[in-house]
Amino acid sequence: MKAVVLKGCCKAEELKITDIPLPEVKAGWVLVKIYAAGLNHSEALLRMFEADQDYINTPIVPGIECVGEIADASDSSLAVGDKIIALMGGMGRSFNGSYAEYALLPVSNVFKVETNLDWISLAAIPETYFTAYGSLFEGLLLNAKDTLLIRGATSTVGQASIQLAKAVGATVVAAARSSSSFEKLHATGADHCIIDDEQISKQKLPVTPNKILELVGPKTLHDSLLTVSKPGYVCNTGVLGNVFAVQKFDPIKYIPNGVFLTGFFSNYPTPEAINGIFRLISENNIKPLYSRVFTLNDIAQAHTLLEHGGAGGKIILSMV
Ligand SMILES: NC(=O)c1ccc[n+]([C@@H]2O[C@H](COP(=O)([O-])OP(=O)(O)OC[C@H]3O[C@@H](n4cnc5c(N)ncnc54)[C@H](OP(=O)(O)O)[C@@H]3O)[C@@H](O)[C@H]2O)c1
Repeated sequence: MKAVVLKGCCKAEELKITDIPLPEVKAGWVLVKIYAAGLNHSEALLRMFEADQDYINTPIVPGIECVGEIADASDSSLAVGDKIIALMGGMGRSFNGSYAEYALLPVSNVFKVETNLDWISLAAIPETYFTAYGSLFEGLLLNAKDTLLIRGATSTVGQASIQLAKAVGATVVAAARSSSSFEKLHATGADHCIIDDEQISKQKLPVTPNKILELVGPKTLHDSLLTVSKPGYVCNTGVLGNVFAVQKFDPIKYIPNGVFLTGFFSNYPTPEAINGIFRLISENNIKPLYSRVFTLNDIAQAHTLLEHGGAGGKIILSMV
C-alpha cells in the first residue's frame, strides 16, 4: 500500500509516498480502507520536533484521524464495508496512522457511523468536532441558557464550537485577533464578535459570559477566569498562544472564588460522544467545515501549509 513514512524529524518538502506492506490483522485491531483524513497541528509538531524522541515509535506513518470503511473486521462486531471514523489513542504516534491507503487500528478507537456526508466532509469531523463537543458538553456542561465566549474562535475547533453551541441554543460570543474575521464568524453562527486584546476582562462586553472555551490557552487563561460571571466555568482546550503551561500555579490565588476551571484532552473518544456529535450534526443540518483538500501525493505541499498556517480551516487529505 502507499503511505507516508516518517523515520525522524524532517522538513515538509522531504515528505513523500513510499510502498509498505499491508498490515496484518490481529485480535482487537481492524483493518480500515482510508478514504480521507484531516490534518492536525500536532502532526506538524511531530514531524518538526517529536519524531526524534524516544516516545515516538519510528518509523511511523503519521496521522491521528481518518474516515473510511472496514476492510477486515478481525474479531470485532464490525463488518466489512461498515462506514467508520477513527481517531487518537496513539494513532500516528505509537502505531501507524492515517497518511496511508490502509491502517490497522485498535477497535476501541474506531466508530461505525450512519451518515450521508461525502468522504471529505466526513473527514472534517473526527478530531475537530470531538474536541469541540467534549469541551462544550463534558467540560463546560453547556446548555441553552448559557452565554459562551470562545477565545481563538477563528481556529477550526473554534468554528466547530460555534456551530455546536448554537445547535443547543446557547448565546455565543466569538473572540478573534482581527475584525476582518467577524463576518465569517457571524456567518458560522456567532451572536457577537469581539477583539481579543488579551485583556477581555477589562472590556465592556455586549453580554457577560458565564462559560468560556479557552483555545488561546495559558497565555490568556487568567484573564478568562477574571472575565466569566460567578458561578462561571472555563475550559482550557487549546494552546494557540504558544504558552503551554501556567508557571508557578497557585490554585488558591489563581482561580477566583466561584469559578470552575477544567480542561479537555481528546485522546479518549467514546461511542456516546461520537453518537452525540452525529446526532447534533444531522438534527441541525450542520455543514462540517474544511478549507483545503490535497491528495496523498501532495503531502509535502499540504504539510507546508499546515506548518505555516493561513489555511483558514481544516486541511483534508483525500486518498481516492
Ligand atoms: N486539548 C485537545 O485535546 C486538543 C485537540 C485538538 C486541538 N487542540 C488545540 O486547540 C487549538 C485549536 O486547534 P485547531 O486545529 O482548531 O487550530 P487551527 O485551525 O490551526 O487554528 C489556527 C487559527 O487560530 C487563530 N490563532 C492563532 N493564534 C492565535 C492567538 N494567539 N489568538 C487567537 N487566535 C489565534 C488564527 O486565526 P487568525 O489568523 O484569524 O487569528 C489561526 O489561523 C490548538 O491550540 C490545538 O493545539 C487541543
